[in-house]
Amino acid sequence: METVLIVDDEKNYLIILEALLSSEGYEIITEDNAINALRLIKEENLDLIVTDMKMPRVSGMTLLEEAKKIDPDLPVIIMTAYGTIEMAVEAMKKRAYDYITKPFRNEELKITIKKALEFRRLKKENRLLTEALSDRYKYGNIIGKSNSMIKVYEMIEKVSNSKASVMITGASGTGKELIAKAIHYNSARKNKPFISINCGALAETLLESELFGHERGSFTGAIATKKGRFELADTGTLFLDEVGEMPPSLQVKLLRVLQEMEFERVGGTKTIKIDVRILAASNRKLRNSVDKGAFREDLFYRLNVVQIDLPPLVERSEDIPYLVAHFIEKYQPSKAGTIELTPDVWKCLYSHRWPGNIRELENIIERALVMRSNDTITLNDLPEYMLKSNNEKIDLEKIVPANMPLEDALEQIEKKLILRALEYSNNVQAKAAMMLGISRHLMHYKVKKFGLL
Ligand SMILES: Nc1ncnc2c1ncn2[C@@H]1O[C@H](COP(=O)(O)OP(=O)(O)OP(=O)(O)O)[C@@H](O)[C@H]1O
Ligand SMILES: [Mg+2]
Repeated sequence: METVLIVDDEKNYLIILEALLSSEGYEIITEDNAINALRLIKEENLDLIVTDMKMPRVSGMTLLEEAKKIDPDLPVIIMTAYGTIEMAVEAMKKRAYDYITKPFRNEELKITIKKALEFRRLKKENRLLTEALSDRYKYGNIIGKSNSMIKVYEMIEKVSNSKASVMITGASGTGKELIAKAIHYNSARKNKPFISINCGALAETLLESELFGHERGSFTGAIATKKGRFELADTGTLFLDEVGEMPPSLQVKLLRVLQEMEFERVGGTKTIKIDVRILAASNRKLRNSVDKGAFREDLFYRLNVVQIDLPPLVERSEDIPYLVAHFIEKYQPSKAGTIELTPDVWKCLYSHRWPGNIRELENIIERALVMRSNDTITLNDLPEYMLKSNNEKIDLEKIVPANMPLEDALEQIEKKLILRALEYSNNVQAKAAMMLGISRHLMHYKVKKFGLL
């Protein structure tokens, strides 16, 4: 709730204004003299001051000047009696947000206040960009001070110094790899290797030899003995990314290594003993794969001794300004603290669905920094798909007649959404899939099913 301080020496006025504005959902503090008001500015977290101009002892003008010294971003609205317009002009020069002449219409005051508070929010957000440069909102290079991220930091602290396997879950781009590294670099193994492998990116035989290594001549092309990632990670940490994609035969092998901490290279007979800390990442659906029998339950529990679940960006939008600042600093360190975003851009960032999560935000900021023509990032610097997806509405009546059976209707809507996403992404299926928050694979399937390409 936003806090508005009203200052007027006429107590009746205070009562009327308080009644009028509390019904707007603001917290109202009233004060009948400027001296007390100044104390409140220092002590309370105010968002706006509405002050009368003419008051005995200390005037509204002095209050304005002093308030600006304490908090330059705090908007001040001046109320002046009719006929003292020169005073109002003077106040504007002294950086009052606006003035309003008494007597005023209630609507007029409400609108001025609403605008001033919007201005305040914007100032705050842009200030966070500068503030975020200090280390207060970070854990290493992980950004975020939302409750869900603070819980993540606590988990990292707790698990870092144990050898327990940790399963990191979360949608694409939520920072799973970043968290895995944070665990490793906060652990006693930090000076030992951190090795990662993407279990979803390699064909079965290749994945096997990547994990366990192979002996020379064990298959065509194995011209030399090769160490696998398990050996490379010895005494350190192995990060099994997309572990849910691992084929069943390898799941068995992996389980054995986790239990015994020993294995043989492909084509080898010598048993190799290792000491490796295992971290794994998967999407949240791995549990379902277990229920369906596609992923071994025993392996699941081995990997899942501790689980860290990363929230999608839409669920922690309060972290957006900090992330924005972080990425500005990452891509243009010399500009950190000088770049601002227009209110429209902030609005767009807050209302976007972020199917690609932090990675998507990172890409958008990196791009905007290239596109911008001065130190302010405007809507023009955002990719077109973000603007369209925010504004354009689908006309339901047009695509589904009222008497269409539900199942057919849903199919028509789905088709329309996919078509639209493809249009926005210039027919790049991977991008369209990201917009809709579905996998590329599923996108490909739908495109074929609906005969869209
Ligand atoms: N909390 C965060 N603070 C700062 N940067 C972040 C944060 N989370 C993610 N990132 C950045 O976003 C990008 C994506 O993160 P990362 O690769 O760790 O995600 P992921 O969950 O592994 O994604 P995928 O599922 O696609 O593999 C990286 O550049 C990472 O540095
Ligand atoms: Mg990843």
